[in-house]
Amino acid sequence: MSSSSTSSVNGFYNPTFEDYRRMAQDPSLSCYEKVGFPDAYRKESEPFIFEDILHKLPTLNQKNKVVLDIGPGCSQLPHMLIALCERNGHTLLLVDSEEMLALLPDKPFIQKHVGQFPKMDAFVNEFQGRVDCLLSYSVLQIAFKEGFFQQFADTALSLLSEGGEMLLGDVPNISKRKRFFASSNGVRYHQHFTGENTLPTVQFNQMEPDHLDDGTLFGLMMRARLQGFDSYLLPQDSRLPFANRREDLLFTRP
Ligand SMILES: C[S@@+](CC[C@H](N)C(=O)[O-])C[C@H]1O[C@@H](n2cnc3c(N)ncnc32)[C@H](O)[C@@H]1O
Repeated sequence: MSSSSTSSVNGFYNPTFEDYRRMAQDPSLSCYEKVGFPDAYRKESEPFIFEDILHKLPTLNQKNKVVLDIGPGCSQLPHMLIALCERNGHTLLLVDSEEMLALLPDKPFIQKHVGQFPKMDAFVNEFQGRVDCLLSYSVLQIAFKEGFFQQFADTALSLLSEGGEMLLGDVPNISKRKRFFASSNGVRYHQHFTGENTLPTVQFNQMEPDHLDDGTLFGLMMRARLQGFDSYLLPQDSRLPFANRREDLLFTRP
């Protein structure tokens, strides 16, 4: 994967919306690399990821709903969602850059909306309270890096219909990561991964301006509750590549 076109914080690979636009157009990248993942992290595991998403968003298995994917990217995951929406008669709204959306098929039940959510006033106004199922997978961390993750979550919630559900999935949590790498399991994982007999570096009680943590995730959940939504922090299926350091936020509108 080309590193020159992307940004990294403390060794964490952390592209921006603009980086993804460029990656979408880079013919040397695989469909997984275009969305920021080495093939080894996604190629085999995307069916498990999709299964995990389906468990958390039961509306997807209903019929004739309005489904929104913010940041679908272009790996096999959006193709799985597209096939499911076609089978179930859903309308599927896709929001991403023009370059990324161009890599996904055009079908009568799909509406492509170009833009960087939530900076899309016309789209946001049009779909207030109309989305039955909202998925945004591995995207909240990008909005955090770009400084508008709270607006991202608030605006996404405003789109939910009564009974609607929203999964902000695959969210890296630096606090969870630290807890894991401070454990014996974490040490074994690190030593297996690096092939070295060293200990992972874990530092508690330090500023973490570049990372989502327990505080930001619990804060998002609390704020949503005070705005009239239910909210839950869920673990990922253990077969998922980042299950030891990422988790999923589920919101429902009563
Ligand atoms: C890490 S990739 C994840 C893609 C896909 N959801 C997945 O998990 O395979 C992030 C995707 O979100 C898009 N994206 C990032 N920020 C966005 C925003 N604010 N609004 C819409 N799309 C965004 C990027 O262009 C990219 O396609």
